[in-house]
Amino acid sequence: MSAMTQPVEDPVKLAEFEAKLERGETIEPKDWMPERYRKQLIRMMSQHAHSEIVGMLPEGNWITRAPNLRRKMVLLAKVQDEAGHGLYIYCGTETLDISREELVEQFLTGKAKYSSIFNYPTLTWADIGVIGWFVDGAAIVNQTMLAKTSYGPYARAMVRICKEENFHKRQGYEICTVLSKGTPAQREMLQDAVNRFWWPSLMMFGPSDTNSPNSGELLRWRVKRETNDVLRQRFVDLTVPQAMAIGVTLPDPTLAYDAESRHWNFGEIDWAEFQQVITGNGPCNRERMAARRKAHVDGTWVREAAAAHAEKQAARARESAA
Ligand code: 3HC
Repeated sequence: MSAMTQPVEDPVKLAEFEAKLERGETIEPKDWMPERYRKQLIRMMSQHAHSEIVGMLPEGNWITRAPNLRRKMVLLAKVQDEAGHGLYIYCGTETLDISREELVEQFLTGKAKYSSIFNYPTLTWADIGVIGWFVDGAAIVNQTMLAKTSYGPYARAMVRICKEENFHKRQGYEICTVLSKGTPAQREMLQDAVNRFWWPSLMMFGPSDTNSPNSGELLRWRVKRETNDVLRQRFVDLTVPQAMAIGVTLPDPTLAYDAESRHWNFGEIDWAEFQQVITGNGPCNRERMAARRKAHVDGTWVREAAAAHAEKQAARARESAA
């Protein structure tokens, strides 16, 4: 068995591992790691990668419907970025002794999750702006934290991805700013998109800390550096002033600034809705999974051609080495 799959029972190695984390050092692919650490990282990183790929669907829906060439080009660039993020994080996950085939199979069979937010429909052009502003904005809050995660390949991937996410958020907020200065119909379309995406965006950060079964272990092993609720609050504090700046109302009548804590207090999230969505019963879960399963079947010839080419290259290398 490779060093990475040694049982976690080895107390000496576990003590060395935890001392390494204590010193703020990153864990690299060839380092010994507890099996639970490896499994948690595979779960979290692969679900992140699945999210990036599925996230292309709702936005891709508007590439042919973008209002002008500039918006079309920007949206094309963003969707291509998401594909790259997915592949980048899959590659990082493969350093944990699991194959791409296994990761994709876990996703296509529903064993692995992807972010709840992508199970909501994109009904108008304003949704594309709000997704950039809220969804990529939430991703930036989460991924900025993950850039300090203890697993080296994941942390380094986040540094690069965050740079592109900032472009994603900026282009989304610009779309919203333009709509907010538009006709009454455009302003209404923007407000409707804000109403539909605000609460699902808060759900992106996961269940509340008291209901987060993975957080304890992930925080102890410095995979997560902040809790779900801390990151969610950070996102709310960042986003409320941005909403006020363009004159949109966030759909939470209880939203109120607390001068003492210097946070925006917000209402109760509909956790029943959250559970529905993450267990496959959201508005678009079936559509998203059907699209990904079809894409996987349609892409069989590409995988076979790439494998045949790789085999030919390897055979040539063996011949020239003989
Ligand atoms: N959507 C789907 N499932 C979710 C979820 C969400 N928004 N939030 C939590 N869950 C699931 C967890 O996966 C876990 O289920 P599992 O054990 O079967 O995997 C369960 O709910 C309990 O949640 P926990 O809080 O215990 O789980 P975590 O500690 O893993 O925290 C998380 C959840 C905050 C999403 C964390 O996994 C994380 O930070 N992941 C990496 C970042 C990521 O995946 N981001 C996806 C956002 S989309 C994106 O970034 C694309 C960009 O281009 C917009």
